[in-house]
Amino acid sequence: MTKQVYIETYGCQMNVSDTDTILGLLKTDGYSQTQSPDDADVILVNTCAIRDNAEQRVYGRVGELKRHKQKGGVLGVVGCMAQRLGSDLLEEVGHVDLVVGPDGYRTLPELIERAGQGDRVLDVSFRTSEHYDDVVGNGEGTKGSRFVTVQRGCNYRCTFCVVPMTRGDERSRKLSDVIGEVERLAEADTTEVTLLGQTVNSYNDGTHDFSDLLRAVGKVDGIKRVRFTSPHPNDFSGRLLSAMAEVPEVCEHVHLPMQSGSSAVLKKMVRRYTRESFLDTVQRLRSAVPEIALTTDIIVGFPGETDRDFEETLSLVREVSFDDAFMFKYSLRDGTPAVKLRDRVPEDVSSERLQLLIETVRDEARRKNLRLVGKTMEVLVEKPARRGDLLQARTRTNKVVLVENEGIDLWSYLHVRLTGTTGSTFTGVPVKARKELAVWE
Ligand code: SAH
Ligand code: F3S
Repeated sequence: MTKQVYIETYGCQMNVSDTDTILGLLKTDGYSQTQSPDDADVILVNTCAIRDNAEQRVYGRVGELKRHKQKGGVLGVVGCMAQRLGSDLLEEVGHVDLVVGPDGYRTLPELIERAGQGDRVLDVSFRTSEHYDDVVGNGEGTKGSRFVTVQRGCNYRCTFCVVPMTRGDERSRKLSDVIGEVERLAEADTTEVTLLGQTVNSYNDGTHDFSDLLRAVGKVDGIKRVRFTSPHPNDFSGRLLSAMAEVPEVCEHVHLPMQSGSSAVLKKMVRRYTRESFLDTVQRLRSAVPEIALTTDIIVGFPGETDRDFEETLSLVREVSFDDAFMFKYSLRDGTPAVKLRDRVPEDVSSERLQLLIETVRDEARRKNLRLVGKTMEVLVEKPARRGDLLQARTRTNKVVLVENEGIDLWSYLHVRLTGTTGSTFTGVPVKARKELAVWE
């Protein structure tokens, strides 16, 4: 009988991509995936450590999963929280049998076997040469659009961030290995790829930089859209901007983490840019790629953030006019340099700031999105929408459009006219593409 694995994924796209790798590895070893923890011989939770509430959610979930663990079954915690807590996690949670960090997945089949025999297994070694290059991911349900990890780890040391502790130092995959993977995906009907890295645009394999990579991925037969996330604002070289402008497959969207609008706070965060140089990057992006959509990450309540600093964040948000943002209250992470900073911001002040920030970002986004109603755009159809008989599709600028499901195939491209917006998402109706019209007429 095949062994069954159940896996839950928390956190960022890289974890989604890692889960795909884990499932690929386990399938090669004779496992099949189950959607029910009750049927599973092995239950895995792929975890995030970025903020305390991410970890608390995992603790809660791992507690619940105890009920579902079979006699002789294995419950494992993998990913960033596993890496961060290591043996503490085994000590704290008695029913966890296995704790494995992001560089240890290759030997998961053996580690699981050992755990099945009653060992409590720990592997949190960093392996800087590990890229899982030869592992064929699982990819079910996401065939049309796939994540491709091109870089792991991070060499920046933003003072708030655990990623350097959980993912180790930056390393880039060889360009030829990335292209090999993208070619295999394209042969299996993938038309959109999202290149992943913690600071993806600092990619460098010793010979090629990120602009080379974008150009090479854009040339792969069958690839129609290339995305990447997340870049660091400091790593947009002239070469990269030219590649973004010249490679037609590269989509008109950049997620550009800003974190704060105050140069004083940015300095304490060791983000290595100022308000002014961030704005300059925004302008360079907009002149290289007109109509580019920009989204961002922002933290409020970083130690020492004054009302005035926060005002500067609000004003930069208005000045840039982002299309959307992920916004967070600062969460203190053990072992990060910011632990030593004084003047912690009280919780109620952070909450109030977060609320104000969310309203400001939403207002800007709504204003921009209203202007798009009536326009025609190419979308890629991704999945049935939650609401009714609609499909969810995405524009090149990463806007979600709900389209009526009139026999439209998933993962097909169509042109839609945007008919309305909630402020963040759109409704749209299919129109014939101009090219098709030319053929018809
Ligand atoms: N370069 C990475 C960043 C990962 S963390 C990337 O690929 O996007 C994602 C976002 O979480 C960060 O941009 C930051 O805004 C937020 N974040 C990180 N550490 C945080 C902390 N300690 N408290 C609150 N938010 C945090
Ligand atoms: Fe974290 Fe800064 Fe790297 S946010 S992932 S240390 S660029």
